[in-house]
Amino acid sequence: MAVDVVCVASWNVDLIAHIAQPLQRGQTQMAQGFERLPGGKGSNAAIAAARQGAQVGLIARIGGDDFGQMGLDLWAHEGIDRQHVVRGDGETNGTALILVYADGDNSIAVYPGAGAGLTADHVQAASDMIAQARVVMASCEVPLAATLAAFKLARAHGVRTLLNPAPAMPLPDALWPLVDVLTPNEGELLMLADAPDIETAAQRLLQRGVGALVVTLGERGCALFQPGTAPLHVPGHAMQVVDTIGAGDTFTGSLAAQLARQSPWPQALQWANAAAALSTQAHGAVTAMPSHARVQAWLAPE
Ligand code: RIB
Repeated sequence: MAVDVVCVASWNVDLIAHIAQPLQRGQTQMAQGFERLPGGKGSNAAIAAARQGAQVGLIARIGGDDFGQMGLDLWAHEGIDRQHVVRGDGETNGTALILVYADGDNSIAVYPGAGAGLTADHVQAASDMIAQARVVMASCEVPLAATLAAFKLARAHGVRTLLNPAPAMPLPDALWPLVDVLTPNEGELLMLADAPDIETAAQRLLQRGVGALVVTLGERGCALFQPGTAPLHVPGHAMQVVDTIGAGDTFTGSLAAQLARQSPWPQALQWANAAAALSTQAHGAVTAMPSHARVQAWLAPE
C-alpha cells in the first residue's frame, strides 16, 4: 500500500505518575494518579498524522512482549501500515517513565529497549514505501543510522524529510543538509545551535543546511525560518493545560500530514498549532490527539 507519510518510529509504553512537584534527588513522593498509556515520539507523531487524514506507514522495531503487542493493536486501530514493523523476540519494548506535575509540565526518562536495534538495513527493506511517500519523518529517539538511511533514500526519491530533534542531542554534520524541515522546541533549538537566542540559533542551523526550521513555542505558537526570507510567526492558543505529553509530537505529525497534502506554510502551521493545543486537553500523548474534523471545527466555529 502506498502511504503519504513514513515514520521511522520509536514506540514506548508510557508509565505516568502524577505528583505535586518535581522530585528532589533522593526524595520519595506519593503520586496522586498513575496511567499506562501509548507513547514514543515516533508513534505519537505517526498517530497524529493519521488522525489528520494522512495514510501513514511505520518503520519500527518493537519488543516481543505485551508492550510490543499493544503497539501493533494500536496501529491497526489507527489504520497505520505495520508491514515494516519488526519484533525483537525475547526483547523488552521501549518504556518511558514520566512524572507529570500539578501545573501540567513533565519529566521523562526513556529506555528504548528493542527500538535501539533499528538499523539502516530495516530502513532499506522499506525503500519502496519511502520512494512512494510524500514525507519521511523521524525523531532522535531512534538510532541515527536508521534516520540517516531513511533521509538519504527520501532525498534520492524527492521525498520531503522532517526531523523532530527530540530528545535534543549533538547531531552529525552529514545529517543537517538531509533535513528539509526541522521542528525543535525553544530549548532544543538553543541547545542544538549552542546559541543565546532563537533568531541566532535558527540562522546557525539554516547555515548548516537545514531547509526550513519551525520552532515550537507552546501557547506563543511557532515561528518558521527559511533562508533569505523574514521569519513567519504563527500565533498559538492559551489553553487550560491538563498535560503537555506528546504536544510536540502532535505538532510534528500534524505538520507532516499538512505538508503531505501540500498545504501552504501559513495554513500548515496554523493547523499544527491547533492540533497541538487540543492535544493538551487530556492525560497522555494520544488520548487527546484530535481528529481532522475536530481541528477543523475548532479553527472555524459556526
Ligand atoms: O514526547 C512525548 C513522548 O516522549 C512520550 O510519549 C514518551 O514515550 C517519550 O517518548
